[in-house]
Formats: sequence, structure tokens, C-alpha cells
Amino acid sequence: MVGLLLIIVRDNVLYEGIISLKSEKGYYATPIGFTIRGNNIYIKVYHGSLTHSYLSTIRKTVLNITDNPYIYLYLAFKKEFNGLNKVSFIEVEDNAPVLEEAKAYAILYLRDIIPCLNYDTFIYNYNTFVTRNPDIEPLSRCNWLAIEALIYLTKLFKIRDSGVEVSNMKTYLNHVFRIMERLCNDPYHKELVNNLFKLYISISGNHNNNYLF
Ligand SMILES: Cc1cc2nc3c(=O)[nH]c(=O)nc-3n(C[C@H](O)[C@H](O)[C@H](O)COP(=O)(O)O)c2cc1C
Repeated sequence: MVGLLLIIVRDNVLYEGIISLKSEKGYYATPIGFTIRGNNIYIKVYHGSLTHSYLSTIRKTVLNITDNPYIYLYLAFKKEFNGLNKVSFIEVEDNAPVLEEAKAYAILYLRDIIPCLNYDTFIYNYNTFVTRNPDIEPLSRCNWLAIEALIYLTKLFKIRDSGVEVSNMKTYLNHVFRIMERLCNDPYHKELVNNLFKLYISISGNHNNNYLF
């Protein structure tokens, strides 16, 4: 099935994936946020982590796409879950260990590191995503926040005239919209958020449109 499946990636969305690499101590992998612009992938890595020291010295890495939350759990809490032993790697070429679980992956080549105060931005070149499983879009907070917003909007809709205190829900929705405005910068999600926000205004009577794009 390799190569027959489609992966959807959009420029300027903060996606979540798993970066994997081969160090002198063996295979290593950790969850990471990434943004695509053309053939470049941007990753912000906070100072002081093992990830930062590996990525600073190892120029070839793999970006794995998976929506399996357990993979994120195990690799975010590697010590607590003995996480690196709970996943398997396939070395598709020299120094390119792909997570067996990955639905798609890209091999990344370090191009530049832009230093910032608390983190550095690593800029990678990549050629293509190789698909290995059914079509997916990389995990981003945009889709799941949209679902969250819809759950709260339907609740709000149900109780809108009941006098039940809804300020917590509104605070939460404002928070969600603020995050989506910051992270979801492609036309597909902007349209989605605008529709959600219009719903929000009509249900809540909140005409403060600060969060509209
Ligand atoms: C979903 C998710 C996304 C993450 N994204 C980043 C990121 O973009 N940059 C970063 O420095 N750490 C990120 N982390 C944290 C790293 O995966 C890792 O926990 C951190 O680098 C510390 O682990 P280490 O000491 O093994 O490097 C993320 C964690 C999760 C669960």
C-alpha cells in the first residue's frame, strides 16, 4: 500500500507528530509540534531537553505521523512508562528509524537553527511524506478544538434560556477561539472557526467579535 494513500498537510498549521532519530545510545523518539511551509518544516525545541541536544547534533531525523494517543503518552513520559521499549522502529534507510506505528513519515534534513530566548527553531528540508496506512491528516489542536467547541455550543444551545450559569462555558469557548485564532492559520480552519464563532454569537448573544478572523 506504500505510496497509494494520501496525506493532507496544510501550510501554517501547528501539527503534532513524533520525531525519531538514532543516537549513539540507540533509538530515541518524542512528541513534537511542527509547522510546514513549502518544503520546509519548522520545529521549536525548548532549551535544556535531551531532544534539543540530539537535534542540535544529529542532522537527519524522522517525523512520524500518528493519531494514537498512547504513543504520545509513552513517548512524552518515557521513564514512567518505559516508553521507548513500548514502540518499535524500522530503519528505512541509514539513520532514519521510522516508528512501526506511524501512518506516514518524512525524513528530515537539518537546514538551519534560529536561536530564540527559551527555545530554538529548527528548520528542516523534506522531500515528501511516505504513507504507510489509511489516509490521515497529522494531529493538530485545530480539529479537536473544533469538536470541543461544538460540544460546548450544543450544550449552550440546549440550556440558553434556562437560567443555568453558563459563564464557565463562555470563558472556555473564548479560550478555545483564542487558541484556534493563534494556531489554525489556513483557509480551511479559518472558515470552520468563523462558522463556529457565528454560531456562538447567535446562541450566546455575545457581540464581542474580537476573536473573528
Ligand atoms: C503532543 C506533544 C507535543 C510536544 N511538542 C513539543 C515541541 O514542539 N517542542 C518541544 O520542545 N517539546 C515538545 N513536547 C515535549 C517533548 O516531547 C519532550 O517531552 C521534551 O522534549 C522533554 O523530553 P526530553 O528530555 O526527552 O527531550 C511535546 C510533548 C507533547 C506530548
